Amino acid sequence: MNWPAWLPLRADLAPLSPYGAPQVASTAALNTNENPYPPSAALQKAIADAVLLVAADLNRYPDRDATLLRQKLSAYINELSSMEFSEENIWAANGSNEIIQSIFLAFGDGPVLGFTPSYSMHPLIAKVTGSKWIDGQRNSDFSLNVEKAVAQIQQHKPALTFITTPNNPTGGAVTIEEIKVLADAVAKVGGLLVVDEAYAEFSCEISAATLIPNYPHVIVIRTMSKAFAFAGARVGYLICDPAVKDAMMLVRLPYHLSALTQAAACVALDFKDELLGFVSTLRQSRQVLEDCLHEMGLATIPSSANFILFTGFSADAPKLWSELLSKGVLVRDVGLAGYLRVTIGNEAENKLFITALKELI
Ligand SMILES: Cc1ncc(COP(=O)(O)O)c(C=O)c1O
Repeated sequence: MNWPAWLPLRADLAPLSPYGAPQVASTAALNTNENPYPPSAALQKAIADAVLLVAADLNRYPDRDATLLRQKLSAYINELSSMEFSEENIWAANGSNEIIQSIFLAFGDGPVLGFTPSYSMHPLIAKVTGSKWIDGQRNSDFSLNVEKAVAQIQQHKPALTFITTPNNPTGGAVTIEEIKVLADAVAKVGGLLVVDEAYAEFSCEISAATLIPNYPHVIVIRTMSKAFAFAGARVGYLICDPAVKDAMMLVRLPYHLSALTQAAACVALDFKDELLGFVSTLRQSRQVLEDCLHEMGLATIPSSANFILFTGFSADAPKLWSELLSKGVLVRDVGLAGYLRVTIGNEAENKLFITALKELI
């Protein structure tokens, strides 16, 4: 980008580009790993009622610590992973991107290691917050090579080591045993292991949150944007040792999470069984979509998430991306030559995607 000379922009920001998944009109929006199932009429009404109650007090600042929401989030995680967390183990913010930013602000004083390709915002937020990002390497099939990852941790001694499981954009997950090996290596260099579990509910692996009582330097990022179908409300959270939560409070902005957001998220958590009911539907659709892609002669990376990275088409990825868009299907070109990523949609969206793809390859 050509910045005007008069703009005193920080020199290290000048070469960067903003995050920008295209927000363009389409019949099937399968590009940002959203959940295709909107809130039920009952949930919409419950949210509206809760917001109406809160609206009466909007002259006042919200609960700065979002205590009720954090209590509900800890109860949710306890039920899911058989743990005994309290609100002292949870921090909540406007989407997990804000959680990631707070992690960098609090702990990014030293090199930060991640294993690419992975979630593009990890390196971007590192750069924006002034941390030195190191691109660690994966196997050529995009799986995480734990042995090599340990060697890279020993070499760079990062303040923060990021892993994403299931990984975005590839979809693969790592096991709890592998995470333990990484956690041991990270402990030896005095850093934190950040496990981004944005897609955890779509995976069968045990959550890294179960390690926290014995590994306080393991911190786990979660979001309500994906399995919870709540991306528009912007709620992400961190599961961590209470000392990590206390450090998050140093870097958060005062009253960062609005009363409206807190109220809506509390209601959504009360409807968790309904919302998570769609997770199994999406997992089944993922299998159907994978089978269809294979029948077309395409290859996929095995996915534990709500998206599939596929390859094996002859056109280059940007060309196929725009041809699909011209047929109303918006997928994601994640910048990996020869690959595109498709989010699992509802039945009609998946059908449109497969029909369009069949006509194009
Ligand atoms: C791995 C990963 N982490 C975090 C996020 C951010 O999610 P949000 O800010 O909506 O919670 C995403 C979004 O796609 C993601 O893929």
